[in-house]
Amino acid sequence: LASAEFDIGAVAPGKTITVKWRGKPVFIRHRTPAEIATEADVSLSQLRDEETDDDRTIKPEWLVVLGICTHLGCVPISGAGDFNGWFCPCHGSHYDVSGRIRKGPAPLNLEVPPYKFTGDTKILIG
Ligand code: FES
Repeated sequence: LASAEFDIGAVAPGKTITVKWRGKPVFIRHRTPAEIATEADVSLSQLRDEETDDDRTIKPEWLVVLGICTHLGCVPISGAGDFNGWFCPCHGSHYDVSGRIRKGPAPLNLEVPPYKFTGDTKILIG
């Protein structure tokens, strides 16, 4: 299947779910207002892979990223690491709540897959 639809209505603020798309894990995080504000405040000069939070989201409440570390492809742990986003236990990469690499060996931010909202709480990935 090229694309897949998911209902995210039951995902509480602050929580992350993991869904499968084309055999890959995809993290969908329902971000809190505090998390959105924190990520919006990060300046590009603090980033290895310079992308604003705005560039990475359609609705700021929802972050959608592939659950594949950009170092060597391990699956990072949600809600962990120094930046409270993701931590990759394989070699210690830390990602923020925008999925951006902040510390450790990974070169790039977690990839944002193609997606769109098909309803208030429905998302189509792919
Ligand atoms: Fe994630 Fe190496 S694969 S840090």
